[in-house]
Amino acid sequence: MKLAVAGKGGSGKTSISGTMARLLARDGRKVLAIDGDSSPNLALTLGIPQAQMSAMPTLPRDLLDRSNGGAVLTKTLEEICASHSVQGPDGVTLLVMAHPQHAGTG
Ligand SMILES: Nc1ncnc2c1ncn2[C@@H]1O[C@H](COP(=O)(O)OP(=O)(O)O)[C@@H](O)[C@H]1O
Ligand SMILES: [Mg+2]
Repeated sequence: MKLAVAGKGGSGKTSISGTMARLLARDGRKVLAIDGDSSPNLALTLGIPQAQMSAMPTLPRDLLDRSNGGAVLTKTLEEICASHSVQGPDGVTLLVMAHPQHAGTG
């Protein structure tokens, strides 16, 4: 099952995404959470300390091969998760996309 949550800023996307992810993980499902927001704060909702997130490297640009018109991953999802993900207290795996550079809401 893949769920994408998008919408207006401040409408509760992060809160509902984090809550769903934690509940599904507590139920024993394997959950991979990806925060695509340019000001990401899903880690906070998942119970992952900011310092732990900041210590992780962000995804490298050469992860996508665009040479044939499309976009193909140059590594497997397992390899990407091994080097660029953090586990939350309920067992949710959060893929580290970007680090917040400034404080913000929403
Ligand atoms: N169901 C809710 N009731 C009241 N406040 C909420 C609810 N869901 C989220 N909020 C609050 O609204 C604000 C924005 O929520 P957030 O999940 O960060 O939105 P988004 O990710 O869409 O920008 C936060 O302060 C959050 O605590
Ligand atoms: Mg948000």
